Formats: sequence, structure tokens, C-alpha cells
Amino acid sequence: MPSIDLTGKVAVVTGSGRGLGLAYAHALAAHGASVVVNDVDEAVAEAAVKSIAEAGGSAVAEVVPVGTTEAAERLVNRAVEEFGRLDILVTNAGILRDKVLWKMSDDDFDAVITTHLKGTFTCARAAAVRMREQGEGGTLILVGSPAGQRGNFGQTNYSAAKAGIAAFARTWSMELGRANITVNAIVPVAATAMTETIPAFAPYVEALKNGQPFPDFLRKGEGFGTPEDCAALVPFLASEAARSITGQAIGIGGDKVAIWSHPQEIKAAYADGGWTPDTLAEAFPTSVGAELQSVGVPAPKFPEA
Ligand SMILES: NC(=O)c1ccc[n+]([C@@H]2O[C@H](COP(=O)([O-])OP(=O)(O)OC[C@H]3O[C@@H](n4cnc5c(N)ncnc54)[C@H](O)[C@@H]3O)[C@@H](O)[C@H]2O)c1
Repeated sequence: MPSIDLTGKVAVVTGSGRGLGLAYAHALAAHGASVVVNDVDEAVAEAAVKSIAEAGGSAVAEVVPVGTTEAAERLVNRAVEEFGRLDILVTNAGILRDKVLWKMSDDDFDAVITTHLKGTFTCARAAAVRMREQGEGGTLILVGSPAGQRGNFGQTNYSAAKAGIAAFARTWSMELGRANITVNAIVPVAATAMTETIPAFAPYVEALKNGQPFPDFLRKGEGFGTPEDCAALVPFLASEAARSITGQAIGIGGDKVAIWSHPQEIKAAYADGGWTPDTLAEAFPTSVGAELQSVGVPAPKFPEA
């Protein structure tokens, strides 16, 4: 079995004061990487650094809201000033501003797009510049979501940002391949502040807080568990064992790891000389229309009582 050793590597994890980001930062530090913890919330960022140090790891905090070029450069510069280099970037910082389309304000839209999509773009660009200068490869781990893969009711801004992030991974894996920089989007599902508010999961999250484990139908069926379950993927993707894995969307949660398909044509039909509205109306239902795709993140399937 390969043993994952990130000694000497340096990571930046955005939004790592709590939730999944905190678990990623801990997992990277536990495998030897030095970590720049980033968050908008200074108290949680400092607490994260302290807890990593107490666990024997090495970390510093950089408190800045990601979403701008300046913030991205601050994070990369901090990694270089503090630890001398940058090898791993995890663009995890995120917020929700859920509303149905007709009620979503420009502010709701801009806040989510800025944090997730522009935050990922600006941080990845700054990291790519640095990693290309170093000339020793690197790892970009972007954070997608089932909502971005499938769409989700009430998440115009978030599903668009997360779908865009999966697209970033595909494009950047091509652009950065020659520099030996891998780029993947991970698609986590875990009990955090973000998912605690989903009514179907709330009783189980509450039970988890009281020390009871998640039932199997959640851990296996729904791929829903703790942030630590998801965190295993991060040191693995940053390691030598994963150098050939790039351009992928990888699901992780509970007991499950999964590869998501990329969007692709699944059925095609042809008309000599091209289609007209009338020939489409006639042929569509029995040709490509027989393969209409489902949308939305499926509701959890609870066992029969
Ligand atoms: N929890 C899940 O099941 C789940 C599912 C799919 C995707 N995700 C994604 O995983 C990531 C982490 O989610 P989580 O559930 O741990 O959320 P969380 O709310 O528990 O933690 C997010 C952290 O990001 C910080 N943050 C917010 N905006 C920031 C900014 N502009 N700059 C820096 N830090 C910022 C917050 O202060 C917080 O500490 C997000 O990108 C989220 O969309 C989570």
C-alpha cells in the first residue's frame, strides 16, 4: 500500500477555519504538509492554526475574503514567505445565498459567484503562476458540488458557480498538464454548518453531534458522513500516487468515493441537409428525445420505517 507523505510540501486551503476546509487542512498537515489556513473569520482561522499545531502540524493563518486578485496574491505570497514555496491549493471557501430565480437579487448572485467562481479563478491563477515558476509541478483541488453537477432547486447562483468550477478543472487540467500540475474538482457531501440546515439531514447531524454514528443508509447510500471522511481525498490527490489523475470530478462522502461523468452527447440523430422545425417536431420524440435527462440532486432515500 502506498503511504502518503507530503513532508516539505506547502498548501493553501481557502475557507479552512471550519467545516470541510478545516478537515482538509488537518489532513494535509497530518501527512506532513505546511498549511496556510485562510478564512474571513479570524477567530476560527486562529483556532484552526492552534489545533493543527497541537496535533503536531505546521500552519499559519491568513485572514482575507477570497474573491479578488489581491486576496489570491496575499495567500500565495504568505505561503512563499512563511514556508518558501507552494505545492497544493484547495479552493474550498464558500457561502450560500439560496433563492428561487425570480426572487434572487443581484447581491445574492454576485456574493456567491464572487466567493466561489471568482475566488477559485483568482486563487488558481496566482497558484499556477507560482507553481509554473517553481517548475516542480503541483496540485490544484477545486471544490464542486452535487448542485453544480445536476442543478438544484433554489440554487441559481451556487449551481452555476459549481458547474463553472467543474469546467475550470477540465480546462486547467489541459492547460497545466505540461507543467505537471494536476487539477481536479472534488464533489464532497458532509455534515457541516452548510448542510445542517437541510431538514432531511438535521436529525442525523444532531445525533452525530451527540456521539452517535451515521446509519449505513446515509454513509453508503447517500455518501453522507463527516468532513473527515471527505478529507481523505485531499492528501491522496496531492501525493505522488495521484500524479496521473487530472481533469476529473471526484465525489467523496461517508463510505463512498465516486467518479462523476463529464457532460457528453449520449444520442444523436441526423437529417440530410440539416433539420427544420417541422422535421425536428416529427423525429425528436422518438430519436434524441427518448433520452431526456433528469435534473436535480435526488432527495435522500430513507429506509422504510
Ligand atoms: N457540506 C457539504 O456537504 C458540501 C457539499 C458540496 C460542496 N460543498 C462545498 O464545500 C466547501 C466548504 O463547505 P462547508 O460545508 O465546509 O461550509 P462551511 O460554511 O462550514 O465553511 C465554509 C468556510 O468558508 C469561509 N468563507 C466564506 N466565505 C469566504 C471567503 N470569501 N474567503 C475565505 N473564507 C470564506 C467561512 O467563514 C467558513 O469558515 C464550499 O465550497 C461548499 O460549497 C460542501
